Amino acid sequence: MSSGETGERRLGIVGAGRVGTTIARAAIAAGYDVAISGSGGAERIALIVEVLAPGARAVTTEEVVAHSDVIVLAVPMHRFRELPRDLFAGKILIDAMNYWEEIDGVDQELATAPAGTSILVQERFPSARVVKSLNHITYYKFDEGRRPHGAPGRIAMAAAGDDRAAVAAVMQLVDRLGFDAVDAGPLEAGLALEPDGPVFGVSYSADELSSLLWPAASSA
Ligand SMILES: NC(=O)c1ccc[n+]([C@@H]2O[C@H](COP(=O)([O-])OP(=O)(O)OC[C@H]3O[C@@H](n4cnc5c(N)ncnc54)[C@H](OP(=O)(O)O)[C@@H]3O)[C@@H](O)[C@H]2O)c1
Repeated sequence: MSSGETGERRLGIVGAGRVGTTIARAAIAAGYDVAISGSGGAERIALIVEVLAPGARAVTTEEVVAHSDVIVLAVPMHRFRELPRDLFAGKILIDAMNYWEEIDGVDQELATAPAGTSILVQERFPSARVVKSLNHITYYKFDEGRRPHGAPGRIAMAAAGDDRAAVAAVMQLVDRLGFDAVDAGPLEAGLALEPDGPVFGVSYSADELSSLLWPAASSA
């Protein structure tokens, strides 16, 4: 059992851009020990992290992996293939990425992935425990949308993955970050969380999100 499953509050984040630093802030507020990396040395992101996510540690990607058993991957989608295939062996890897042609260029494999781009992320990192999550709301909602557990108006976030223990660990993280967690099912169900999917970009309650992701269950 990894520290992610035991509820230990350590989080690694690869990608120190808008999403990575905003999730880092939310995690610090939730009491997590956060390590975060960019594409280069730690010194390149040290100032950004100090200003945007005070309390998080700017490190290299290898050090992020050593720091935590739960890692958020928040790099521009076309760049995940730069990372070594065995980098995240045994780790819970939260795929927070979305494919955007304007940012990522034309990439036929990503654009036409029939079961969603997280399947390609899992293929790239076969020994990682990939969970699609944290990708379907705008990044600034991690600041302004987070609420304590049970608070009215709490926004929901979904998690999809084939490794059910990993999904449970990610759902616990989502709750601690300040959002209601909804189990979206297997990794290929992550397709529904992507930019052309039915729940993308809108803030829903857990009931609303569940009924959109599980329409048959909600009408039964
Ligand atoms: N913007 C949103 O509202 C939003 C919401 C949910 C999900 N997303 C998704 O989240 C991902 C990140 O978006 P963003 O808006 O945060 O992008 P961003 O602001 O452009 O930041 C990307 C970060 O990733 C780093 N990076 C790039 N290649 C890397 C590598 N090989 N190893 C380590 N770090 C690397 C960059 O570092 P360098 O500067 O050193 O290259 C930069 O710190 C995208 O896939 C996006 O679609 C975005």
